Amino acid sequence: MKKIFRHSVFALSLAPVLLCTKISAVTITVQTDQPGVAINRGMWGIFFEDINFGADGGLYAELVKNRGFEFPDPLMGWIKIFNNVAHGEISILDEQSFDAANPHYLRLESEGGAPLGVANEGFRGLGVKSGEAYDFSAQVRNVSGAPVLRIDLYSSDGEILDTVRLKDFSSGWKKYAAVLHPKTTDAKAKLYVQIEGKGGVDLDFISLFPEHTWKNRPGGLRADMVQVLADLHPGFLRFPGGCIVEGSTLAGRYQWKKTIGPVEERPLLINRWNKEFSHRPTPDYFQSFGLGFFEYFQLCEDIGASPLPILNCGMACQFNSGELCPLDQLEPYIQDALDLIEFANGPATSEWGAKRAAMGHPQPFHLKMLGVGNEQWGQQYIDRYAKFAAAIKAKYPDIQLVSAAGPSPDDDRFKFAWTKLRALNADIVDEHNYANPSWFFDNTHRYDHYDRNGPKVFFGEYAAQSDRVVSVKNRNNLECALAEAACMTGLERNGDVVRMASYAPLFANTEAWQWKPDLIWVNSLGVLLTPNYYVQKMFANNAGDATVPLQISADAAKLFASATRDHAAGEIILKVVNGADSPASIGLDFSGAKKIAAPVSVTTLAGGLNDENSFADPAKIAPRQTELNEISPRFDYTFPAHSLTVLRLKAEN
Ligand code: AHR
Repeated sequence: MKKIFRHSVFALSLAPVLLCTKISAVTITVQTDQPGVAINRGMWGIFFEDINFGADGGLYAELVKNRGFEFPDPLMGWIKIFNNVAHGEISILDEQSFDAANPHYLRLESEGGAPLGVANEGFRGLGVKSGEAYDFSAQVRNVSGAPVLRIDLYSSDGEILDTVRLKDFSSGWKKYAAVLHPKTTDAKAKLYVQIEGKGGVDLDFISLFPEHTWKNRPGGLRADMVQVLADLHPGFLRFPGGCIVEGSTLAGRYQWKKTIGPVEERPLLINRWNKEFSHRPTPDYFQSFGLGFFEYFQLCEDIGASPLPILNCGMACQFNSGELCPLDQLEPYIQDALDLIEFANGPATSEWGAKRAAMGHPQPFHLKMLGVGNEQWGQQYIDRYAKFAAAIKAKYPDIQLVSAAGPSPDDDRFKFAWTKLRALNADIVDEHNYANPSWFFDNTHRYDHYDRNGPKVFFGEYAAQSDRVVSVKNRNNLECALAEAACMTGLERNGDVVRMASYAPLFANTEAWQWKPDLIWVNSLGVLLTPNYYVQKMFANNAGDATVPLQISADAAKLFASATRDHAAGEIILKVVNGADSPASIGLDFSGAKKIAAPVSVTTLAGGLNDENSFADPAKIAPRQTELNEISPRFDYTFPAHSLTVLRLKAEN
């Protein structure tokens, strides 16, 4: 077999590899004239959980931590500014509060000496950028005198970045606002709120948001973080987790109805990851629900992802208390699910549709799927799932339900769940898998033998662990990313069974994570994309709507492939993972094709197995784009060592 293409565009580092002309011992045959099976074009999606400061301190762009003084230590995140010539009081009160659901507020009283007040440190760093505007706001009530409120942004080394003043406060609670323009960029700025002059004020819900948020929505989401999600073109977004759905106890479970309506009225809840790991304590981790269910649905709509909310099914996390809601008391949980469907899809005249409309979205959110429980297991789960399924299907037969298969992909809990869920004719079963890279390389044929007529699979949480599950030594390195890619070729080849798949967890704040690896790392100023992110992106941006049958002619070490057809684009997409330590010269045979139109686009992710990206070297591992011209239906291609390659081509049969 003779190489008959020329490469173009970005050929430098790949040139020696592509110019290889030796006859290949292994051929990948892509049968372009054979029918494949229809697959879900939106099979590659994202899993969001408020873990690792994913929401507060992450996606939700609020810069003030503990803005409502509702943490158990009401001044956590704040320091008192009270120098030795100041005279007055700084106190936390809860009488005649601004909001009954969040009753605490701050009182500042001064006898007229030096300014006094509080300063906020943000979420382990309050990041501000020069050239950008920041909206300060607070609920304020005058208590005595006519004090002035002085708002400063300070840099981490004590320089004032901007100052504004507010005055003439009313005697009742009222929102006051001002805009700050920091003169320099700082990852760890501080927001000072002080009173000048004699008198007193009450303050609550002290907030600072960048004006530049996603779609510039006031009080919105971090634009840089949403952008990298949008860039994935995800087929779906699962929210809000993860174990956070379950809670350590039922009282601590996620309750979507408490996350909608005015943000000030959403009651704060301790984040279940606050105390989960003694080696990674996060005492300042709470859920403000500024990112609540309305915002999740809106985010899905913004980025073209199908919404997949997961609800508590009357079971707290079985790794924690395992608390159960008795079966005969499950009705409010089930009602929450029915009401959620109405909130998402019901007419604006319906009870819950009206709440959606009141929040600015009279049109439905087109919810088609709903998860019942997160990572549950045992008969207790099956009993609860069955009750949910009966009630939901009776009212909304078209809603596809996602059910749980426990935390492992192959233990007794998993087998039990599958037996029961199959008998219950479940729609989609959620499988979770955190394992070493070798598991992912070794299980690429896992779904080849699944029952084509049984429930579909949601490979809902997975990530290769370079060390072991929950180890702080886990890395987002290329080896893990390629292991995931190899596994994903198997998911894609079996796209008639595997309806959806998502990596987990999604985000981690570099200063406040509990779990690694994670798909995207963030600090207070920016995002860092991992090799794993690029694997997800290369698959999701190159999804098809049908498989194309494919064979690999001989056993080749760590060589994996899948092919799909994108009918709209008229293209065949071939994905190849070479996990071996040396380049692999492979014959590519697009059988049935008479001609392949030039150019063929080639995207390659390659590097050393231990390579990782970092804020200092963010593009160490990143996809590179090339093109092939003058290509025939049979040619040799040399895949670099440790690589994922995606070829898109138009084959004429
Ligand atoms: O992704 C982290 C956690 O792993 C999820 O919350 C849980 O579902 C799984 O155990």
